[in-house]
Amino acid sequence: IDFEAELDTHFGIAHTRWATHGEPSPVNSHPHRSDKNNEFVVIHNGIITNYKELRKYLVSKGYEFESETDTEVIPKLIKYLYDNRENEYVSFSTLVERVIKQLEGAFALVFKISLFPSCSFSRRLQSAHTNKVIYLEDDDVAVVMEGKLYVHRIKRKAGEDPVRVIQTLQMELQQIMKGNFKAFMQKEIFEQPESVVNTMRGRICFDGNTVILGGLSDHLKEIKRCRRLILIGCGTSYHAGVATRQILEELTELPVMIELASDFLDRITPVFRDDVCFFISQSGETADTLMALRYCKQRGALTVGVTNTVGSSICRETDCGVHINAGPEVGVAMCVCAYTSQFVSLIMFALMLSEDRLSMQQRRLEIINGLKKLPELIKEVLALDDQIKSIADELHHQRSLLVMGRGYNYATCLEGALKIKEITYMHSEGIMAGELKHGPLALIDKHMPVIMIIMRDACYKKCHNALQQITARQGRPIILCCQDDPEISKMAYKTIELPQTVDCLQGILSVIPLQLISFHLAVLRGYDVDCPRNLAKSVTVE
Ligand code: G6P
Repeated sequence: IDFEAELDTHFGIAHTRWATHGEPSPVNSHPHRSDKNNEFVVIHNGIITNYKELRKYLVSKGYEFESETDTEVIPKLIKYLYDNRENEYVSFSTLVERVIKQLEGAFALVFKISLFPSCSFSRRLQSAHTNKVIYLEDDDVAVVMEGKLYVHRIKRKAGEDPVRVIQTLQMELQQIMKGNFKAFMQKEIFEQPESVVNTMRGRICFDGNTVILGGLSDHLKEIKRCRRLILIGCGTSYHAGVATRQILEELTELPVMIELASDFLDRITPVFRDDVCFFISQSGETADTLMALRYCKQRGALTVGVTNTVGSSICRETDCGVHINAGPEVGVAMCVCAYTSQFVSLIMFALMLSEDRLSMQQRRLEIINGLKKLPELIKEVLALDDQIKSIADELHHQRSLLVMGRGYNYATCLEGALKIKEITYMHSEGIMAGELKHGPLALIDKHMPVIMIIMRDACYKKCHNALQQITARQGRPIILCCQDDPEISKMAYKTIELPQTVDCLQGILSVIPLQLISFHLAVLRGYDVDCPRNLAKSVTVE
């Protein structure tokens, strides 16, 4: 890009897209064009599933392709249709509609044409350097002409009014500044005492022992009558489901299924009208989760969004939902505060659902008190940062790192291992300690770095056994344990001692040292923590 170039138009289109076809390179970057004169220019998000057929056809008509992307068929196709219009007058908008009719897949597009330098067409429009956005619905076509915006629909139904209002995003500039932190991820880790408070604000009455999630109130009766809960998400958001499944089962006494969105769809999982399906997503835009949502809606289930982004697709398409209010996330692969806020949100849901169960009151009270003290305990864990950094100093040349635990802390192992993979590029595995003897034990020797999570809860004894099996094979585990646990400390290579909270909340504390370890490992290994290779903040393709 020639940033110094003088342009004779005030109007341009640009897009950064996660590489789906072809490597990230200038030639595969957007916009894509019809020809060297840039007659038709297009940017695109999503995937064109029938691009191979279209490309083959266009090549047979003499069009030469520059890139390996699926997108490039779009400008070539519009040029082809324009060149073959046979004396018929075809407006830009008709041309765009004709192109769209030929495309299969899920996509948002913006077109620009050299004949009309100040006019652009798009399906879905959103701007990054403004706080004013317009959300387009599927099949909306937006036209910007001479500074004015017009929206119409490809398949208009009688009486349908395509007015789309401008909405203002509530994102304060200071919220997205790094401040004194080295990276956004680090800032997000250290903001967790506040972000969990924001998630709970106005929702928990600590005196009255009540929890109200306003977004679910209208559907509470229906939720209470359901036959099972299904929690669906990807990556970190899926782990928030794993983390809270046990307490959801305990407090609601309902069967709870936890599903990776992609696998859930692959299996064509049976879903019924009396199921309640949760879609957990920081961005609210992850394509796999969105597809799973549409799948469950079609089958008549009640759909609940657990998102961090007001106005996102998942927010808009679910019947009801919970905003986790974790604040904006900037680090690409992070979902750092979103994880702990999703965790707290799902705990609050379990508390709300069990409010009228007499037998649960003692347990509820214990958890509500635990939530009240949580921000202070998170601060105590964050104060261990120097100690955690020294452990990272020791580990950063390693190739592999195993993270082991069970029960309430198994999700921490999965999430910790994911963070390590995402930003340090080390191989890492979250291992269910109960499975140790069924395979992973073969990996253990004095060289293999292992982190174990052993907290004082119902799994303590079993974890202790696993620890013995590790040390008997000369393993040298670094152990996340409760303060003052000499039994564990004497068997550990190193310990990170954490304050104790209620068993089902412990995972919120135990994940923080792993977030910090992955951050320090990435910095020590020389990687850009906020922009890990090959990943996107929000994966809007299946
Ligand atoms: C991407 C990110 C992950 C994230 C996942 C789900 O793959 O790299 O860090 O956990 O999407 O994102 P969501 O916005 O749906 O929570």
